[in-house]
Amino acid sequence: MRCRKCPKKAIIYMPEHRLALCAACYSPWFLDHTERTIRKFKMFTRRDRILVAVSGGKDSLSLWHALHALGYEADGFYIDLGIMGSDHYSEQSKQRCRELSERIGRRLHIVRVAERVGAPIPEIKDLTAREACSACGLIKRYLMNRYALEADYDVIATGHNLDDEVAVLFSNVLHWNRGYLARQYPVLDEREGLKKKVKPFVYFTEKQTTVYALVNRIAYVRDECPYALGATTLSYKDLLAQLEHQAPGTKRRFLDGFYQIRALFAEPEAAALVPCSRCGQPTTAEVCAYCRLIEHVQRRRGLALAPADVNTSQSSLKQVLVSDSE
Ligand code: AMP
Ligand code: FES
Ligand code: ZN
Repeated sequence: MRCRKCPKKAIIYMPEHRLALCAACYSPWFLDHTERTIRKFKMFTRRDRILVAVSGGKDSLSLWHALHALGYEADGFYIDLGIMGSDHYSEQSKQRCRELSERIGRRLHIVRVAERVGAPIPEIKDLTAREACSACGLIKRYLMNRYALEADYDVIATGHNLDDEVAVLFSNVLHWNRGYLARQYPVLDEREGLKKKVKPFVYFTEKQTTVYALVNRIAYVRDECPYALGATTLSYKDLLAQLEHQAPGTKRRFLDGFYQIRALFAEPEAAALVPCSRCGQPTTAEVCAYCRLIEHVQRRRGLALAPADVNTSQSSLKQVLVSDSE
């Protein structure tokens, strides 16, 4: 198959766009589409300072690379979860983020969960009755927000792609989870201590972000987190892939259709956010879920409630983030 734009051999065919492109024509197409999504949802401008949450995987590293290539002021933010696994998962992920940081000459901020919370994710998993992913998600959201506030970034960008978003939407619809549906959108505006959050890759499939990483020689971690819950989401992804195969463009239409009616799910009165009495970050409770988690971890470890994290107002970022509402 030939490239639509030049006589070279195509490396990717995208049935949903009826478009085949060669390696040289792919990146300009991908960057153009990234820019269109950024504008469509008014995500940010070239005057904004963007904090890109990078996990070391293909989506978030491609996002950082693409925003830099488009001339945006984008720094990286890596949360070291302290997960070893057989492949030293967190170390490898951090290394991939460092490599891209050096290559594009942008700063990479790193925070360690073991320092902030008092224990790495595997230990937190053992000390709490929660799945690793639920504590992990809470910690990541808190640290991203807190760091962006403290370091004065305007917006936090994550690498969620079309396949992720459609699988989550499918699950939320199957369970009629109105609260989650109300908040599933590529842009969440800043409010009461919560920084603006955006997902510029919502319209790219996993295949498209992978090809961007490969064409641009971005080294990324291929393994999933060893604690990934996966099974259910993967079965939704399989189902959706079948539907997409039968009718290319189904995923995008499902997501876009939802964006148009999403207002129907808006909660009439979103719960008011108040500063956490421990760390000052916004929460709907007196003490935020992050501070409660730290307390729990400290108690279970039989330690005094210590780290800089818990008293906060003066001790900068060194604490936690927040949004138990997400
Ligand atoms: P996931 O929840 O693992 O699918 O990741 C979704 C997005 O969250 C990624 O594309 C990243 O933007 C961000 N992210 C995930 N893990 C980390 C991490 N350890 N440090 C910083 N950002 C992360
Ligand atoms: Fe958080 Fe796996 S438990 S990435
Ligand atoms: Zn708190």
